[in-house]
Amino acid sequence: MWITDRKREITVVMGVMNIEEGASFPAKTTFQVVMCSIIAAVGGLMFGYDIGISGGVTSMDTFLIKFFHHVYEKKHRVHENNYCKFDDQLLQLFTSSLYLAGIFASLTASYLSRRFGRKPIIMSASAFFLCGAILNFFAQELGMLIGGRILLGCGIGFGNQTVPLFISEIAPARIRGRLNLMFQFLITIGILGASYVNFLTSTMKDGWRYSLGGAAVPALILLIGSFFIHETPASLIERGKDEEGKRVLRKIRGLADIELEFNDIKRATEVSNRVKSPFKELFTNLENRPPLVCGTLLQFFQQFTGINVVMFYAPVLFQTMGSGNNASLISTVVTNGVNAVATIIAVAMVDRLGRKFFLVEGATQMTATQISIGALLLQHLHLVGPITSRAVPLIVLILICVYVSGFAWSWGPLGWLVPSEIYPLEVRNAGYFCAVAMNMVCTFVIGQFFLSALCRFRSALFFFFAAMNVIMGLFVIFFLPETKGVPIEDMAEQRWKKHWHWRKYFKQN
Ligand code: BGC
Repeated sequence: MWITDRKREITVVMGVMNIEEGASFPAKTTFQVVMCSIIAAVGGLMFGYDIGISGGVTSMDTFLIKFFHHVYEKKHRVHENNYCKFDDQLLQLFTSSLYLAGIFASLTASYLSRRFGRKPIIMSASAFFLCGAILNFFAQELGMLIGGRILLGCGIGFGNQTVPLFISEIAPARIRGRLNLMFQFLITIGILGASYVNFLTSTMKDGWRYSLGGAAVPALILLIGSFFIHETPASLIERGKDEEGKRVLRKIRGLADIELEFNDIKRATEVSNRVKSPFKELFTNLENRPPLVCGTLLQFFQQFTGINVVMFYAPVLFQTMGSGNNASLISTVVTNGVNAVATIIAVAMVDRLGRKFFLVEGATQMTATQISIGALLLQHLHLVGPITSRAVPLIVLILICVYVSGFAWSWGPLGWLVPSEIYPLEVRNAGYFCAVAMNMVCTFVIGQFFLSALCRFRSALFFFFAAMNVIMGLFVIFFLPETKGVPIEDMAEQRWKKHWHWRKYFKQN
């Protein structure tokens, strides 16, 4: 009886994500639910657009001339060290300041969305992002540019913490996983779209303005769309608005009789409201240690696959190898296309082949390609002068595509999926925040220090990322239990308690 109750509570409350099993209530796949989820997932498009736009813009001459003149001069000095052309703390701060703002914003969003609901937070996310895009479009000096980045960061922090939660709460359990992966898919579409925009604007006068200002498009879609989405029933009921919650539930489920699900949400919100301090519970209760370590480390590792080196700095990398501006932007469009297509493969296969298979396979594929890229650069990219061989940049491009596809069907989507399915209910929100925050911190570190590290360590940097990929593969083999097909509420019983290492955190019965 208790287990059944908990099963239902866990299924409904607090934005449970990607549930594979659990109580299912009668529900039609309504237009309302699909539309609300697609609109919310546009948050992913904003996130992706920004990831994809930064690298191209920081390699555009007109942008460098206006804001980073010293970098422009350095880039064009014939005798400049190849690996140090773009090394500049301020240039890197342009890319990474957004993530610093994002960390604080997602923490704030995790509190605000509980108090005021998901819908206003999604609206604010798009408003922040829109203001950031406008400020960047009109930027006259570095201060405006960084100020715009901080506003964009607030938008992304609000969006990333709330959108997956929103989709999970609004979707019927049956199609929750699929609807959730749409968020990651739209991230990749955003990256792809942005790299294409960069390609188009790179030859225009002040093209960078259109690239940066283009962020207004996904923001506007989300802003206008968010007027049409419903607040989630769980959030309404949690805040005492029972009648409104019932009304929305009827609408999105396409049924008149929603009493069963309503009662469950009611019961679940009562349980969740009893936990006054989820963060204290998360850090002090030892039984939460295994998911906390695994969920947070997965995001740490996701970033140390080195993916954002490619996402942010691929055009810079291609230029470092001596490709022209145009060729380097085209190469970026190609790698980002591979990213989007390979993500579809993950969506189709991950529930069949399991999480561990993809994580280990992805880490192996990325290790092999990183080592090959490092070796090629070591051999062919000398300190000064472009690469003389025409074949090498092409081979590096192919290797980067193989590398990106390895990420896109493994650590990309699973870095978000796994942390969402391993926490017990009481601490799921707080635990998920730790994953989001780890993502932002590590993205900041990579964004801020990669170009300096490239300058100091040169091709050895690729061997460093290869070593990280080996470590993360071993971590998955030895420490991560397979979560495929396990109802999330049974995770402790079926997985953690039986795991050779994590079992010691549990009282055995
Ligand atoms: C990661 C981003 C990355 C993107 C690439 C996401 O899952 O969190 O950091 O840029 O995938 O597709």
